[in-house]
Amino acid sequence: MKHEVNRLPLDTVLQGDCRTLLSTLPSNSVDLVFADPPYNLQLRGELWRPNLTHVDAVDDDWDKFASFAEYDAFTRAWLGECRRIMKDTGTLWVIGSYHNIYRVGAILQELGFWILNDVSWVKSNPMPNFRGTRFCNAHETLLWVKKSEKQSKYTFNYQSLKAGNDDLQMRSDWHIPICTGDERLKLNGEKAHATQKPEALLHRILRACTNPGDVVLDPFFGTGTTGAVAKRMGRNWVGIEREETYARLAASRIQEVVPPLVPDEDTPAPLDTPKLRIPFVNLIEHGLIHAGDELRLDRTEHIAVVHEDGTISSGRHRASIHKVGSLCLNKPSCNGWDHWFFRDRRTGEYLPLDTLREVIRKAITATPSQDAVEAMERTGKL
Ligand SMILES: C[S@@+](CC[C@H](N)C(=O)[O-])C[C@H]1O[C@@H](n2cnc3c(N)ncnc32)[C@H](O)[C@@H]1O
Repeated sequence: MKHEVNRLPLDTVLQGDCRTLLSTLPSNSVDLVFADPPYNLQLRGELWRPNLTHVDAVDDDWDKFASFAEYDAFTRAWLGECRRIMKDTGTLWVIGSYHNIYRVGAILQELGFWILNDVSWVKSNPMPNFRGTRFCNAHETLLWVKKSEKQSKYTFNYQSLKAGNDDLQMRSDWHIPICTGDERLKLNGEKAHATQKPEALLHRILRACTNPGDVVLDPFFGTGTTGAVAKRMGRNWVGIEREETYARLAASRIQEVVPPLVPDEDTPAPLDTPKLRIPFVNLIEHGLIHAGDELRLDRTEHIAVVHEDGTISSGRHRASIHKVGSLCLNKPSCNGWDHWFFRDRRTGEYLPLDTLREVIRKAITATPSQDAVEAMERTGKL
């Protein structure tokens, strides 16, 4: 499709060479770039399984370059354009294998990009190494970069990623199967494209680095996986693909995708994650309460003494803050955090123990600011 130069053609597949088409897109206009460029696999000869069936390897013309120098020049050209088109708050993801990712990484750095993470996409169902001459190549690498070292703002939905990951911080090893089954597009019964990426991979990236309404650019669109996932998640997209067959395929694939029924921005932000469990002894470990300190049971005459091991004693009872509370109150249970009060050394005021538990929670779960993280990275403290 033709488009007006210097206007972002939202939700459109542009057909042609990305080096030319990228130069027609406006500067500072997209929130995220996802690029799955040719890997320059340099496959030589046919590949056969031990049972003499043919391996459908990536031997397409679009993946062939005469030399590393030619590949590097190509990489420099499209990455340079992407950097111009990205907003100053934008980030870029590029995926590759050992064949190309080190070259791409070096060129990213030469162009001024700043690497935020490398992520390993660990394939749960990789193709075996049929010749048995090397390790089975079971992962690909993704580089996540910002435009420059000094760029302080970019989208990283840390909290919602963690909430969706059973409250565990999202790590840089992603276990995702390769694209198979119904998701794999077919043409005349054959795979329509040699390197269609799984939607799950794109879903994770867009969840991490975009918000509803953001614009995602993919200069090597292939079957349009990025566009399909972007539409499903209520993001805008722009795709560039050189081969007409793939460009058409991508457009019709995306046409079938239903956008979200409830726009994400109309729903509340993810709730705070369930609170971290803090045992009472942590207050003693952190010096917020000392052995020998006295605690008062809410609205009663009961006093308890704190012991070094995290138990408290009152009268004949020595046990946890909850157990001693329930025995003193003669009730089946008691939340010691709410019912035992300590004396604030500075104000002399009596406050519930829970106040101190929150102090520790904050200290443990605090995420360092972006600037602090970068400073730690620079000084090797991270
Ligand atoms: C690795 S595939 C991308 C597959 C895609 N991520 C998917 O899930 O289907 C790379 C694609 O880039 C296209 N391509 C190669 N060189 C190109 C260029 N210079 N400009 C635009 N597209 C190009 C190829 O035709 C191929 O479809």
